[in-house]
Amino acid sequence: MEYIREAVDSNWVAPLGPNVDEMERLAKEYTGAKAALATNSGTAAIHLALATMEVGSGDVVFCQSFTFIASANPIVYQGATPVFIDSEPDTWNMSPEALRRALEDSATTGSLPKAIIVVHLYGQSAKMDELQALADAYGVPILEDAAESLGATYKGKQTGTIGKAGIFSFNGNKIITTSGGGMLVSNDSAFIEQARKLSTQAKEVAPYYLHEKNGFNYRMSNISAGIGIAQFGVLPSRILTKRFIFDYYTKHFSANPYVEMHAEMVQTYNNYWLSTLTLHSVNPKEVLEALAAQQIEARLLWKPMHTQPCFAGCTFYAHEETATPVSEQLFATGLCLPSTTSMTESELKRVVEALQLATLGVQEKREIEV
Ligand SMILES: Cc1ncc(COP(=O)(O)O)c(C=O)c1O
Repeated sequence: MEYIREAVDSNWVAPLGPNVDEMERLAKEYTGAKAALATNSGTAAIHLALATMEVGSGDVVFCQSFTFIASANPIVYQGATPVFIDSEPDTWNMSPEALRRALEDSATTGSLPKAIIVVHLYGQSAKMDELQALADAYGVPILEDAAESLGATYKGKQTGTIGKAGIFSFNGNKIITTSGGGMLVSNDSAFIEQARKLSTQAKEVAPYYLHEKNGFNYRMSNISAGIGIAQFGVLPSRILTKRFIFDYYTKHFSANPYVEMHAEMVQTYNNYWLSTLTLHSVNPKEVLEALAAQQIEARLLWKPMHTQPCFAGCTFYAHEETATPVSEQLFATGLCLPSTTSMTESELKRVVEALQLATLGVQEKREIEV
């Protein structure tokens, strides 16, 4: 409220101002990225990154299939064609194996992608070393969609700062929020300055309104940034609470043979934006219904992009050519559990009990309790 009041009192009620500058400074300080641009959504940050990479009509962009649709929509906004890449089973993120095949094929046909969008889903970092080595071998930039993974690391580096550019989301459901907002970061300051120009209608330096390119109106408002500054202060404790929630579920489901929590990969630090799991021999839709009957909202995992009607006909590379795609298996067996940081321990206990009941027979449940 203090920052918002100050914005109003000083009449900085605009998509620029001191709070926006401070928000960008905090993003750089927290992530270690050299440059940052605050935007009015994570989707806008992805769109700006692709526009700055000069993705256009006739181009191809590779994108992780197992994600929220906002990762892929900006490809279409730019008139380019998405090619979807499956996940691997450890991190649930882009499969280096599938990416290798896709790059080999596109090099053969002379249609290398203009960019590769890798997602750090649910707060778990992708296998960046393997993916970056492949991207470098073909000279293709990686855009990291770290919308869900602010604060998560890969081998000590913040997700979003490893590839050519990265984006974060401050949508209301994210680990910290500005009500709606995003951030584009990069270690290439010139890249961010180009994106900044595009984000404000691509105005040229001239004593009148001169535009050589078509830009966007994608800047974060000074009011929203005021919320974000305060939110950065609670980020470390939010991450600890998210990790506590995941650990609580893990401990209580350790003896349940039907529930497998999605634990973080070695050398990564997960912000556990959502606690996720896969079920064995139990139908997730039935489990959702059983939880809903007790006023507990859980969700299925993301439905892969290559199975979405709006992307019908797009090329897709599976992790293993002859097996069911990993992303499809995850969608068929996975769940997100309630993970909000305001949950009390008794609420967590209620979720655990409901899920044990929905997955275990009564006898098995008794044995676990003993
Ligand atoms: C993986 C992923 N990418 C992109 C976005 C887009 O962010 P925003 O909602 O801020 O546009 C989101 C969240 O909404 C997301 O979860």
